[in-house]
Amino acid sequence: MSLTLPPLPYALDALEPHVSRRTLATHHGRHHAAYVEKTRALVQRTALEGASLEEIVRSSAMGSPLFNAAAQAWNHAFLWHSMCSGGGGAARGAIAPLIDESFGSHTAFCQQFVTVAGDQFGSGWAWLVLDGTRLRIVATPNAETPLVTSLVPLLTIDVWEHAYYLDYQNRRLDYIAAFLAHLVNWDFANRNLGGAVDRAQAATATSIQALGASTGAA
Ligand code: FE2
Repeated sequence: MSLTLPPLPYALDALEPHVSRRTLATHHGRHHAAYVEKTRALVQRTALEGASLEEIVRSSAMGSPLFNAAAQAWNHAFLWHSMCSGGGGAARGAIAPLIDESFGSHTAFCQQFVTVAGDQFGSGWAWLVLDGTRLRIVATPNAETPLVTSLVPLLTIDVWEHAYYLDYQNRRLDYIAAFLAHLVNWDFANRNLGGAVDRAQAATATSIQALGASTGAA
């Protein structure tokens, strides 16, 4: 069985003071671990035993116990890479001009991110996604994830209370502001963006080859 809790990509205290060691230890070692364990238990002796986590998320019914556990496991694995020590601030790399193009400015992007993540009622997530050729910020409730849509996730923030309550209590907006100013892993967002561009170019090339074959073109 390949479903295991992925290790954090940094030390437990790497995100301090913005996310404490205590929060990260509980969030990763208990919450994320429980989602992985639940997923593993639910697929035992089913057709999905041996499937990848992404395959399980994509093939389970949204809102079902299996979807909820598997999607939460996938979302959390994505979350850890969305943050890094010394991150945040102005976007860098290929995504920077796309942020300006899609939102008007980095400041406008931050304002919209705070609004979307702050307004998510109850538990959920906010995501920076690629929608076609433009960026968007979307929120998803509970375990829902852009992975099962046409949107390409580039970054996420967890706005379940377990992600911030120990450090910020009910001050979700302070947690979101710290995420934007100090934690966003722009390198991860750029890798996800690059992967999406590569897949789109490969799909276009395949379509052109298929068109050529169907019309007898060389
Ligand atoms: Fe979480």
